[in-house]
Amino acid sequence: MKQQILRNLPGDFPWQNQIYWYDTVGSTNTEAKRMAAEGAPHGTVLIADRQTAGRGRMGRSFRSPGGQGVYLSVLLRPQCPPERLMHLTCAAAVAMCDAVEEAAGFRPGIKWTNDLVSRGRKLAGILTELVTQPGQTAAIVGIGVNCCQQLPDFDPEIRDFAGSLSMISGTDVDRARVAAAMVKALYRMDETLLSGKDAMLETYRRDCVTLGKEVALLRDGEIRRGYAWGIDGDGALLVSFPDGHTEAVQSGEVSVRGLYGYL
Ligand code: BTN
Repeated sequence: MKQQILRNLPGDFPWQNQIYWYDTVGSTNTEAKRMAAEGAPHGTVLIADRQTAGRGRMGRSFRSPGGQGVYLSVLLRPQCPPERLMHLTCAAAVAMCDAVEEAAGFRPGIKWTNDLVSRGRKLAGILTELVTQPGQTAAIVGIGVNCCQQLPDFDPEIRDFAGSLSMISGTDVDRARVAAAMVKALYRMDETLLSGKDAMLETYRRDCVTLGKEVALLRDGEIRRGYAWGIDGDGALLVSFPDGHTEAVQSGEVSVRGLYGYL
């Protein structure tokens, strides 16, 4: 599989010698953290066929069966303070839309902040983690993409709202091609992470299916209803509430649901 991924990358691809393939791993994000602590360089990429302890946002697990998805983490060592990286998850989401468009022929939407969706189904999730080391910040961006599943492949609890690239495109999807498109898109994202922030956020706003919707914000067991109308310069969701006030909601704090289902 690693050779197939490399064949789908340009011969002079700058990160090609730091791509690691795992048949099985606990979590590529956890492994990337370990490698970060050992000094692995910027642009280290870990890709797994299967994860036994895949992690999602807010302490949830992320199902990662073999032969069906791409589970990928990239280690970045941005040359800026962490407070300038608030938009990183948004940038990764736009990059992953580009990658899916290249490899599967359609452009998904983004459910704020970090889910790729299409036809009401979640196709991919992103987990960004910052690791502060003396004098430097490392960022790990982990992405899990459902590629080849058909509906019966998903556990019954998620069958109503999970989907795959293959289900949406109606064709077989080549996971090596998806993985290579993801790595290329992440490389381009990294190149323009600071200089291209405004343009990236414009694309994010265009792709974001949460905007213009009534949403339910779940925080610490409390549910509040509001109207999501914008994304600010850090990628926070701008929500107005029935009493007229507006809040910039940071990712990580809350879970957002549409009032009438997953979106
Ligand atoms: C979410 O949907 O809440 C985020 C899911 C992120 C899953 C990816 S798979 C690769 C990387 N390794 C992990 O353990 N998690 C991320």
